[in-house]
Amino acid sequence: MFPYAHVQLGQVIASRYRVEEKLGEGGFGSVFRGTRLNDGAAIAMKCLDSELQRNAVASARFDREIEILRELTHPGVPRVLDVVESDAARLLIMEYVNGSSLAGHMARDAPFALHRALHIATQLLDALDAVHLAGVLHRDVKPDNVVVGPNDSVVLVDFGVAAWRDAARNADLTPAHTVMGTPRYAAPEQVGGDAVDARTDLFSVGVLFYEMLTGERPFPAVTAQGTAIADSTMPPTPFAAYRQDLPDALERIVLRALAIKPEERFQNCAAFRNELRGLAVLT
Ligand SMILES: Nc1ncnc2c1ncn2[C@@H]1O[C@H](COP(=O)(O)OP(=O)(O)O)[C@@H](O)[C@H]1O
Ligand SMILES: [Mg+2]
Repeated sequence: MFPYAHVQLGQVIASRYRVEEKLGEGGFGSVFRGTRLNDGAAIAMKCLDSELQRNAVASARFDREIEILRELTHPGVPRVLDVVESDAARLLIMEYVNGSSLAGHMARDAPFALHRALHIATQLLDALDAVHLAGVLHRDVKPDNVVVGPNDSVVLVDFGVAAWRDAARNADLTPAHTVMGTPRYAAPEQVGGDAVDARTDLFSVGVLFYEMLTGERPFPAVTAQGTAIADSTMPPTPFAAYRQDLPDALERIVLRALAIKPEERFQNCAAFRNELRGLAVLT
């Protein structure tokens, strides 16, 4: 049936939610800010467009995103409020985070003051710790998927390519090793299509943290596709090339997060976060 309906600004969905503003556009639909009509609360709505609902992979991924988000209850992850169907889309209604993406903040302000980078990184690690403890791998940690709210509070969003760590739970539509994430933030094992685990997400935090501190990407290696990826023959550029005010201990922490071999990285979020906390005491 053509043309397919699309979610429109100003539209009222299921008599309950009004679409107010587009926040982002992905492969499978868009994300909007909306209003819950009964109480005027702001909500976020992630849509699977009607034309994709017959795409088995897109549809199963969307369902898994909802299933995963429902199991996460942490202030650093948006809560699921509702799931609704309309002519135009299937919609995940979630808590709206009043803020804007870390990517935008970095484009404006990076390199960040050390205390700000630490404040953001430790909160991100707290949220990711809760994700991992729930048995979930995010697999696409990057500045676009981090929303920074009032007082630099941090919420990790976009579980669109997240998976259960226990591969048997993943239906086999998207086994743990088939999603590449975003090359600039992806660990070598993820780019290489090998098995990923919590340490893979921690590598992505390492790239993001390095970028907050320097304003530059850690690995200058460029592929034929023009993307920077981690390359075992080229270590990250030392902080001293960009700024002089960072403690050596911080550089050791970031290099450990960015180790090519997973066994040389922090083994879990808590270990990484505790090192940063120790540093925050000194600064
Ligand atoms: N709950 C939310 N509250 C506020 N903004 C959000 C929320 N969820 C997503 N966003 C914003 O919308 C953008 C797109 O959402 P995301 O889930 O990343 O979808 P995509 O699959 O299109 O990348 C995000 O980069 C973020 O800026
Ligand atoms: Mg995203």
